[in-house]
Amino acid sequence: MSYLDVFSLEGKVALVPGGGGAIGSAIAGALAGAGAKVTVVDVTQERAEAAAEAIRAAGAEVLALAADVTTEADCERIVAATVERFGRLDIIVNCVGGGAGKVLFDAQDYPRDAWDWIMELNVRSTLLATQAAVKAMIKAGNGGVVVNISSVRADLGINAGYSAYVAAKGAISSLTRQWATEWAKHGIRVNAIRPTFVDTPQVAMLLDDPAFKAGVVNRIPLGRVGDTSDMTGPVVFLASDAARFVTGQIVGVDGGLTATQ
Ligand SMILES: NC(=O)c1ccc[n+]([C@@H]2O[C@H](COP(=O)([O-])OP(=O)(O)OC[C@H]3O[C@@H](n4cnc5c(N)ncnc54)[C@H](O)[C@@H]3O)[C@@H](O)[C@H]2O)c1
Repeated sequence: MSYLDVFSLEGKVALVPGGGGAIGSAIAGALAGAGAKVTVVDVTQERAEAAAEAIRAAGAEVLALAADVTTEADCERIVAATVERFGRLDIIVNCVGGGAGKVLFDAQDYPRDAWDWIMELNVRSTLLATQAAVKAMIKAGNGGVVVNISSVRADLGINAGYSAYVAAKGAISSLTRQWATEWAKHGIRVNAIRPTFVDTPQVAMLLDDPAFKAGVVNRIPLGRVGDTSDMTGPVVFLASDAARFVTGQIVGVDGGLTATQ
């Protein structure tokens, strides 16, 4: 028995909507590496399977599913399939979201369709997937863990047409605190990570501009943007028993950016 056993996810089952994405696939791999059996969910079977294959190659048990987690029916289906395959569900890490860079508009003119799309992609996806997972956790009576992905944009304005995204991430942070408060009685902990820019295809267009990137990096005390692997340790910690007294927290994974504001 080692002290490090409190960080182990051995015997746990994790559901990762968006697990085929840049951050999601890194997180799904890390959860599996820490011992969990993992269901990877993405919009197409190919995206889910690509991430699952890497996990399988590393020797872990994984299920790949295609689903649209902005629909109740698909969320119920992926939870049922996970419980059927692995016998339980302990952890959900919500990795569907983003889109900010694709819909930049002045705040006074922010179009309703772009607003609705960002809200669906970020808030509805997290809401519906979590509701389905938590209903199964409450029914099983073994407690559970929810980890959401917020953003520094929940707390920091940016002079770049981000109205819908900042509102969506603000909602994710607020729901994290609300759910932690409501579901503590079921032994379910709810936390979020709050990254700054992470070097991924979603933000490649912005970070490819050297002046923009320098402006971002200059404000980050650790002197660089995030890498997908920077996200994994905090998520594994929050998912593990090492964080058993941690709930309702929005954990900055931002190289110190928000500490300077
Ligand atoms: N990349 C960054 O700089 C950054 C910074 C802060 C926060 N975040 C957040 O991290 C999360 C992941 O971002 P990413 O950069 O890995 O994005 P990504 O686009 O690489 O990953 C998102 C994944 O979700 C999938 N997806 C989209 N809609 C779906 C749906 N309805 N049902 C199922 N799957 C769906 C996509 O196919 C994709 O694989 C997002 O919430 C994003 O806002 C990203």
